[in-house]
Amino acid sequence: MLKLTWYSHAAWEIVTGETHILIDPFFSDNPLAPITAAEVSADYIVITHGHGDHLGDAIPIAQRTGATIIANAEIARWVRSHGAENVHAQHIGGGFRYPFGYLKLTPAVHGSSLPDGSYGGMPAGVLIDFGPHTVYHAGDTGLFAGMQLLGEEDIDVALLPIGDNYTMGPRDALRAVNLLRPRVVIPMHYNTWEIIAQDAHAWAARVAEETSSRPLVLEVGQTYTVNEL
Ligand code: NI
Ligand code: MN
Repeated sequence: MLKLTWYSHAAWEIVTGETHILIDPFFSDNPLAPITAAEVSADYIVITHGHGDHLGDAIPIAQRTGATIIANAEIARWVRSHGAENVHAQHIGGGFRYPFGYLKLTPAVHGSSLPDGSYGGMPAGVLIDFGPHTVYHAGDTGLFAGMQLLGEEDIDVALLPIGDNYTMGPRDALRAVNLLRPRVVIPMHYNTWEIIAQDAHAWAARVAEETSSRPLVLEVGQTYTVNEL
């Protein structure tokens, strides 16, 4: 059984068995965060790209919990030089079998500089095959044709940005759903700030109407349990 909790923005906790995986743990400067970085549990922390709203509190959480940070080689090197001890570097297109499943970094069309301006390598999405279920976190990205290839990965749950301005907006995210063909799609990266305010329920209604995927709008802090797919 897989439990996905949305901590707002692109921040997620995935719990599988006893393992806690955080993705893009943005708490401290996040106006919507329902909990603090000091409260979360983590065994692994995945960082999709170097921007502050995705790197977030990864380093202090890793230092407190001993969690392993998973990121591209550039971000991996940077977090190691900023105090993270357990780090696993991967890169776009490369997968690695962790105890919890097979995790692959996928392309994303975006930027990836780190908070001090350091080069953060290419931005990524994350595809995790947990065995019974596959989850895709798109990171920050615009629409790209390669999503059609990701659509061959038998995605159960896709987490897609819909905020517009910095990433896909609702219209392109709808096109992304038709390329990715996930069983369930959950919107993210919206409403954190006024500039990415969106009506997620209106978007979900269009997903239900215009795609074969099932939309699910989570409240901040809400958990979706994947067991019936
Ligand atoms: Ni970004
Ligand atoms: Mn972002």
